[in-house]
Amino acid sequence: MSGRKKLILDLDTGIDDALALAYALGSPEVELVGIIASYGNVTLHRAERNARAVLEALGHPEVPVFRGADRALSAEGEFAPSEAVLRIHGSNGLGEQDFCAAADGWCYSAPRDGMAFLARSVDAYGDDLLYVPTGPLTNLAMALVREPRLARVLPCVTFMGGALAVPGNVTPCAEANIHNDPEAADVALSLGLRLRMIGLDVTHQAILTRSDTASWRELGTEAGRLYADMTDHYIGTYEQNNPHMGGCALHDPLAVAAAIDPSLVECLRTNLRVDLSGATRGRTVCDPRRLRDAEKNHEVALAVDVPRFLRLFRERVGRALTS
Ligand code: BDR
Ligand code: CA
Repeated sequence: MSGRKKLILDLDTGIDDALALAYALGSPEVELVGIIASYGNVTLHRAERNARAVLEALGHPEVPVFRGADRALSAEGEFAPSEAVLRIHGSNGLGEQDFCAAADGWCYSAPRDGMAFLARSVDAYGDDLLYVPTGPLTNLAMALVREPRLARVLPCVTFMGGALAVPGNVTPCAEANIHNDPEAADVALSLGLRLRMIGLDVTHQAILTRSDTASWRELGTEAGRLYADMTDHYIGTYEQNNPHMGGCALHDPLAVAAAIDPSLVECLRTNLRVDLSGATRGRTVCDPRRLRDAEKNHEVALAVDVPRFLRLFRERVGRALTS
């Protein structure tokens, strides 16, 4: 198919990041031209390894994986996931599933700089580029600080993170991706770049159940079995921590889906910022100093067409797990 948008995913792979990757590979409108790895659900090293292993399992080893940041902007030491995150995503980030043992031995001949790749891709693809971060916004902030012109030329960035009108999932106020690097998120939100926020307001409405994972197992493919077992691990943690939800939230796949088709969500246009201190650190809010500005740089998704999204999710992930 020609005229496809070029997609870059910025992943802290992570179970729902792996689901987002499958959604992207099953989407005919986009060509996945690269992944930038980030710390977050796992260490940077593990995120690189997981992205490559999942690509291999889905039959796309040709997609390049680039290296992003290994820590938050203000952190002194390399990031290490918390006990809670290790429980949610498993000690290997993929629900203890052995996606590709060979990936443990893979190494690059030279580090591949993810921020430089993003800048090159903006120049190469212009408005045809879709860049979708589904981890902390550290890589985006670093790219913007290094090359401020990117704020003007990068097309609207759809990201998974934040919570505007609902509670956070790490603290009462902060969602995990923003919590991991509030300063980076605030930098990304304050430099004039257009951003679309897919936060907990909508991702907590998009729920996957065990009947879906059972159908992946029935596909009879190795990828289907791995994805079913991996996602059942994730659903299991939701059953313990959020039993009222009836399944797991499809955070990162919804961000990819809304980047490809923004009509899936209804958004509030505003100018966001992030609280950087006190008990509300990591909270995404409408900037009180800019409420009356005519120019609104950000869109916050507050409603989602759940049946249509789930239909697309089943179709596209099913395709990725079969081919
Ligand atoms: C976000 O945090 C991560 O754990 C998930 O992968 C998702 O990107 C949800 O708050
Ligand atoms: Ca993620």
